Amino acid sequence: MTMHQDIARVLIDSERIAARVAEMGREIAADITSQTQGNEAEVVLVPVLTGSIVFVADLIRHLPHKLRIGVVSVSSYPGRSRQSRGASMRGVLPDNLAGKHVLIIDDILDSGSTIRLLQEIIAEQQPATLRTCVFLRKERESARDINVDYVGFHIPDEFVVGYGLDYNDYYRNLPEIAILRPEAL
Ligand code: IMP
Ligand code: MG
Repeated sequence: MTMHQDIARVLIDSERIAARVAEMGREIAADITSQTQGNEAEVVLVPVLTGSIVFVADLIRHLPHKLRIGVVSVSSYPGRSRQSRGASMRGVLPDNLAGKHVLIIDDILDSGSTIRLLQEIIAEQQPATLRTCVFLRKERESARDINVDYVGFHIPDEFVVGYGLDYNDYYRNLPEIAILRPEAL
């Protein structure tokens, strides 16, 4: 049994994804280069588990800089639920981000509670710079005020899977961004 029979429609195919990720990589690399010029401040990427794993794996191969990765875990869609119930931190943040160039990386900005929480917690540590990168951003009125520096694609407010995004922890390995058949939900 394959997962493909559960897919109703592909929203973004893998070629468009690869092209856009390469483009984002070039933009982020150029920004890191100008941020770090003439100083030794370290660069730390903070990917949010588990959804960002595929995106971050592709993105980092476009970054030539000497950098560290410190993953974090945030729960916002417990169990099978598709409703955001607010975010809470799990696990620990990477050590002391003070004075460092920090880039938060997540799969999708939906209600925005995950990004908002992380931005607040990390800002308290007083990094030299704090930027945020999401692969997808949903058009949600409630998340309008959230500041994100890099967005891969803006998508309509629909539930999507693939390229790291899951439903009930399935479909993360789907190479494209897709919408599920109603029967699969
Ligand atoms: P937020 O805190 O509501 O912005 O939600 C962010 C998290 O919810 C993301 O990191 C995803 O794991 C999950 N999420 C939000 N929308 C979707 C979706 O359409 N498909 C799969 N996961 C989603
Ligand atoms: Mg997630």
